Amino acid sequence: MTKRKLSHGEVPVLMVICVIFFVILLLLSLPYAMKFIWQVIVTTTSARHESLPLPPGTLGYPLIGETLEFLKKGSLFYQERQRKYGNIYKTHILGAPTIRVIGADNLKTILMGENTIVTQSWPKSAKLLLGSRAITQSSGKIHKTSRRHVMPAFSQHAVEEYIPIIQSDIRNQIEIWLEEDRVLGFIECRKMTMSIACKVLLGFDFDEGEKGKYNKMFLDFMDALMTLPVNVPGFGFHKGMKAREGLMAEIKEQLLRLSLQEGKTSSFKTAFEHYMDSVEEEITLDTLDTIAEGALDLISSGFSTVSSALTSLMMVLGKHQHVLHNVRAELDQHGLLEPENVDLTLRCLNELTYNFKVLKELLRLYPPAGAGFRKVLKTFKLGNYSIPKDWTVMYSIRETQRDPQVYDEAEEFRPDRWNNSSIHPGTLTSKCETEKFNFAPFGGGRRSCVGFEFAMLVLRIFLVELARNCDWTLLNEDAEVRYIPVTHPVDFLPVQIRRRMIQN
Ligand code: HEM
Repeated sequence: MTKRKLSHGEVPVLMVICVIFFVILLLLSLPYAMKFIWQVIVTTTSARHESLPLPPGTLGYPLIGETLEFLKKGSLFYQERQRKYGNIYKTHILGAPTIRVIGADNLKTILMGENTIVTQSWPKSAKLLLGSRAITQSSGKIHKTSRRHVMPAFSQHAVEEYIPIIQSDIRNQIEIWLEEDRVLGFIECRKMTMSIACKVLLGFDFDEGEKGKYNKMFLDFMDALMTLPVNVPGFGFHKGMKAREGLMAEIKEQLLRLSLQEGKTSSFKTAFEHYMDSVEEEITLDTLDTIAEGALDLISSGFSTVSSALTSLMMVLGKHQHVLHNVRAELDQHGLLEPENVDLTLRCLNELTYNFKVLKELLRLYPPAGAGFRKVLKTFKLGNYSIPKDWTVMYSIRETQRDPQVYDEAEEFRPDRWNNSSIHPGTLTSKCETEKFNFAPFGGGRRSCVGFEFAMLVLRIFLVELARNCDWTLLNEDAEVRYIPVTHPVDFLPVQIRRRMIQN
């Protein structure tokens, strides 16, 4: 065989091919190189506790980290990482190096470490929208004082007085649904929650038209809490700031009216009135902004969480008819099944222990808030890892409450699993430490939910009224459930609803 020599023309062609090949190789490997360099920079500049390693996990691309993948995948992003790395792993999302922790022991360390190793951490957009003086946004002494002033409005004693208001609002709303035949559960539950929250907190009374207007403002406001803080028309944050202006103006007007006793139409003591008694201060133009910000913080904390739980309740009972049957059997046993104007009291609600287990199981499987955020104040050890100062820690409620090592058939909705629970129906707190942190839909420690008694009351009343007044069919039973920003069915839960047939 004779070897052919390359001609003069063929040599440059080969060189060009080699260069193109090299450039393509370089371009293809560039993302990996960038990720590698970014990982090295972030990990080597992060503080360590006694030379312990950082948790496993990846940090994605410079600056944006793994945010795009997170936004695309939602809760699946977390599930995949937990499967791969275990209960403590690192990532980089929403502009911050972040460690997600799962499991009772890890939750206990984070929740009980408030002000010593961690403190609250919210995205800048939320800080600007809610204001630095809001309970959720403050820390240290200001936070402690604000909580002390707000708590009397949500004590068992205070919330007991709210029962007739909540019951009548829920009954009215259900009557409107029954006229509609077909409703979107999530949208309706949002409207109802906002109306109850505004009435109980501030004594606001809306007509149907106003409900729509405020609902829209609240949605714009809530949607902007976790966005890029760009206050320019066209951006979600700008819409959120506009909604904040409108809501603050309304709240301030209402507060002034209430403080002058002009608009006092409510027959009960509103949460705002409890608050004013607790601070022992006159409302002035100087304090008005702070108080209005506090009210907005409370309404927004309760609005999305409660409406999410109410919607999930309609969904699970629609899917698990035998549970609905048991709920009704218990109501019947206590003479509460017939809808005719049976006024509810805390005492009769406390007797409904099966109903309470249904709600507990609901909050285990579908916690409205899937996680809480903290900023690390000083480097500490968690498991065998270093958790570096200034990183974000996200404690996971959802994955903790679905741990198959703790809960048999963890993905199943089984209210009976709580049969042997020592928990008293009136409260969700438990004496058992492990149970406490394996089940934390309302968080825990110094930042536990201030509105939890109120939220539970709304849920308990809604369960009674829905079960005794309505039959409903889920029109898309297998709809996907999304968990971010709060738990909700992706199609907003279309249901066909009708008055319950009373059997003789
Ligand atoms: C089912 C309904 C609710 C759920 C599942 C829920 C859940 C939570 C959770 C998990 C936290 C802790 C967040 C963290 O650790 O960072 C929290 C805090 C909070 N919740 Fe709720 N919540 C509900 C209803 C309400 C209601 C109705 C209100 C007020 C009317 C409220 C007001 C607050 C406030 C102000 C905080 C902040 C406490 C602090 O930082 O000290 N929540 N909630």
